[in-house]
Amino acid sequence: MSEMSTDAKLRVGLIGLGAVGQVHLEAYRASALVEVVAIADVSQSALDAYKSETGLRTYSNHLQMLESEQLDIACVLTPASLHVPVALDCAQAGVAVLCEKPLSISSAECERLIAEFAALGVPLFYGSSYRFLPTVRAARKLILDGSIGDVVLMREQAVTGRGPDACHPYGPIHYPPGFPGGSGMGLVDHGIHLIDIMAWITGLPIIWAYGRGNISGEPLRTEYATLGFANGATGHLLYNESTWSTVLPHEGAFSAGADWNHEGHIPGGSWQAEPGSIMVHGTKGALRIHHYANALFLNNADGVREVAVEGVPAPDHFRAQIDSFAASLATSKPPETSATDGLRAVQILEAIYESDRLGQTQNIPIVR
Ligand SMILES: NC(=O)c1ccc[n+]([C@@H]2O[C@H](COP(=O)([O-])OP(=O)(O)OC[C@H]3O[C@@H](n4cnc5c(N)ncnc54)[C@H](O)[C@@H]3O)[C@@H](O)[C@H]2O)c1
Repeated sequence: MSEMSTDAKLRVGLIGLGAVGQVHLEAYRASALVEVVAIADVSQSALDAYKSETGLRTYSNHLQMLESEQLDIACVLTPASLHVPVALDCAQAGVAVLCEKPLSISSAECERLIAEFAALGVPLFYGSSYRFLPTVRAARKLILDGSIGDVVLMREQAVTGRGPDACHPYGPIHYPPGFPGGSGMGLVDHGIHLIDIMAWITGLPIIWAYGRGNISGEPLRTEYATLGFANGATGHLLYNESTWSTVLPHEGAFSAGADWNHEGHIPGGSWQAEPGSIMVHGTKGALRIHHYANALFLNNADGVREVAVEGVPAPDHFRAQIDSFAASLATSKPPETSATDGLRAVQILEAIYESDRLGQTQNIPIVR
């Protein structure tokens, strides 16, 4: 890691400039704390798209970038199967890492990653980007302030598509055959956000899980999970983007923020027939969080109303995320999200798959 000063921006290198890497790069331009100085990707076309436009130094191999640049942070934005080996290369070079979700494809690999970073004394951050969405943060504050009473139920779903032939699951470089896999709005690639977020916004640990998820290389099925929280509440996830939507023509919203759906990344301001929606029900009220559309609604005894939300909508949450990590590096304070959060999410994901294999609910130990 380079010598850090309090006024200079931290130097960031991006590894992987695909769909999400491009969004990170754009979002980081608004940061007062970090500056992207270099990008590495094995695809020359991915690099060429940015080289002439930005003047960034480009590398076809991340090891060359780590050797040539004085980086403070490397963002690992490669497919999931490469997170651990690429992040470990960064740790060997003494460079702090922000790793995209899922932290790894197995909890054993997550544990190995965390142990090696700790042994080398290099900071490792987990990119739980939903924690930095303004609506999710505002909802968390309302829930923790008791505005909806005791949380009893949470739910989120993505059931959509244009039939099986139009659904393209991630290939083996993202999710190796035999491991959790599937499509972009499925359990491992998208639900991993919700597994983390449902616990984070309520402050309630997940203590059991039941469900089933797709296996990479095998035919796609409907994926579902029921999560049990320490207070008795349940969380329900339901995914299938190889079927058809039931949305009606008059339903939807203009999304204030950029969104992701079964067609990929959609810029802010676009019409969203099915804007992403997290629903939280309590004893005194309920919240509907349109996390990307940047709208938050509260329903209670006073009726339904929209709650004002501070902050810039997606994709600025990637800027907020890297700024949070940069601030924690500069001050040596613990980060808002840690690699342990990433490990926890993968452990719960594995419990869901194990419940399917064994046909019974899996208990999850509470880690403090
Ligand atoms: N936080 C979010 O909201 C969010 C959204 C989308 C994707 N993601 C995550 O980001 C990661 C990347 O997803 P994506 O959709 O951008 O994938 P992608 O396939 O679009 O892009 C991956 C990029 O990595 C490059 N790459 C592959 N191997 C490499 C290597 N060894 N060194 C350098 N570059 C390499 C590829 O050439 C490609 O450009 C995944 O872990 C995914 O789950 C997160």
